[in-house]
Amino acid sequence: MSKPFIVPPHTRTIVELGMGDGRVLGALAEKDPETVYIGIELDEAQCAQARSRLNLQNAFVIQGSFGDIVPRFPDDSIDGFIAILPDQSFIDEKKEGQWHPFYEAVHAKLKRPGAFRLVTEMTDELLQPVGDDAVDLWTVWLVETFRSMGFRVAELKEGSPAEYSSRCLDQFRGDPERIRIITVDFVKS
Ligand SMILES: C[S@@+](CC[C@H](N)C(=O)[O-])C[C@H]1O[C@@H](n2cnc3c(N)ncnc32)[C@H](O)[C@@H]1O
Repeated sequence: MSKPFIVPPHTRTIVELGMGDGRVLGALAEKDPETVYIGIELDEAQCAQARSRLNLQNAFVIQGSFGDIVPRFPDDSIDGFIAILPDQSFIDEKKEGQWHPFYEAVHAKLKRPGAFRLVTEMTDELLQPVGDDAVDLWTVWLVETFRSMGFRVAELKEGSPAEYSSRCLDQFRGDPERIRIITVDFVKS
């Protein structure tokens, strides 16, 4: 039996992975009523907060693991994915073997044109300030890793989009020397 599709037809669809309390999802959905926004979040309490915040026709919360849910979308069906400060288990260099297959699924589900926006951070193991050389090396590794999955970089910037405000982002922005953030827009090559 084929798996049920959960994407409504004939709309643009943006999916936020690990959306936390839904602040960013709500702000984006409010500005863009023609697009359906789906937030996926594992944590029940965060989902409850998001649901009480998102009183919108075009924003939906799914509680569960994005690792289970994303593979259920049809291939080439999603206009955009957003991941803001994913947990280290989904971006850390040392755990790459664990998360690689998940982003391959993201790649498969993304439309062409469509973009996967990743906002992620680098810190020093001893929580010392992170120098530019270390950030450059890390950025090269990140870009190469996603290139190997079939993504290419459409845009790469230091910092996070000014219009995004989330619990973690607002906290991390307060320590810019020790927490270096980059934003990368990946597209299918
Ligand atoms: C560091 S927080 C960032 C939250 C939010 N994006 C923000 O910027 O405030 C990572 C979030 O991802 C969620 N998460 C971790 N693994 C997940 C998974 N497999 N599926 C869905 N959500 C997950 C966590 O519960 C947490 O809310």
